[in-house]
Amino acid sequence: MSRSLARVLAGVLTLVAGAGAAPLVQAPEAAADSIVIGGTPVDVADSPWVVALSSRDRFGGTRAGQFCGGVIVAPTRVVTAAHCLSRQVLGGSVESVKDFRVITGRTELRAEDQGREIAVRAARVNPGYDAASNAGDLAVLDLAEAVPASSVLPLAAAGDPAYAAGTAATVYGWGDTSGFGDYAYGLHAAGVTVLADDDCLRAYPGDASGQYRSDSMVCAGHAAGGKDACQGDSGGPLVAGGRLIGLVSWGRGCGRADSPGVYTRVSPLVDFVTGAAGAATGATGASGTRTATGASGTRTATGASGSRTATGASGSRTATGASGTPTGGAGPATGTAAAPVGTGG
Ligand code: ARG
Repeated sequence: MSRSLARVLAGVLTLVAGAGAAPLVQAPEAAADSIVIGGTPVDVADSPWVVALSSRDRFGGTRAGQFCGGVIVAPTRVVTAAHCLSRQVLGGSVESVKDFRVITGRTELRAEDQGREIAVRAARVNPGYDAASNAGDLAVLDLAEAVPASSVLPLAAAGDPAYAAGTAATVYGWGDTSGFGDYAYGLHAAGVTVLADDDCLRAYPGDASGQYRSDSMVCAGHAAGGKDACQGDSGGPLVAGGRLIGLVSWGRGCGRADSPGVYTRVSPLVDFVTGAAGAATGATGASGTRTATGASGTRTATGASGSRTATGASGSRTATGASGTPTGGAGPATGTAAAPVGTGG
């Protein structure tokens, strides 16, 4: 699709999503000159924990229904961004998306003979997720089939030195490579630098673009821009030191100078991710309705403007959370109960 058409669609869908004021998908004035933004193609064999979330019913078949990223953190467990499961993205509850799949082992989305498409047995949104501020933007998916333990990426725990400013990190995804709706068919990765909380807060002090919150977010980029995640990368991994430190969550445009990418800080959510039923053992079955306790205590909803809507590109809507105004509407799947998802197959 042409860039202009992608922009028109994005605008239309932004309106449909109910956003009034600020453009959620901005014409990226300062888009990176290279084409994840500024990344290079990589093979999923070298990063087997990166997965694509898919629904062809909702997002079309040209890119195998890809709409967000995710990360394998246990043989039957994937983490992604909570906003990827919102009604605004999915058009309904996560349970209503009957062909929701996690695609593993497929570098090129069109190579439908590669890798596996695994049904999602249950989904749980972080009870501390706040859609208005994007705080705690994480959800857990329990898979109907196990993947090899060699595909698991460890989570960074609190105090992990990989969160230190200046740490080299890598972000992965099948999202927009230009900021103009050029959604990738192949997996890309870009090298970014973990920034100091002060710098993140300076970039996002709480204006219309949103507010950085050091307790639940980590930001990464380069002062000059050029390398970043973008629309369609949400939920995908930010990796440093061989551990998962963040999930693609939001940002002002893509790859712009002084607009680092903002990621869900995973370390405060380790208990939520690992504690719910099935995590430690990789056992299948979503019988657990255990209430997560690790995440909720430290996280309070505050009023930074959030940002998410559905955008269009390449004939498929893609989850976004670029800068803008909260789009209101129904919230994400909420609560801690395990919600059955899909029907298998
Ligand atoms: N929220 C977007 C998505 O759903 C990701 C935006 C990331 N933006 C950035 N500049 N790092 O795909």
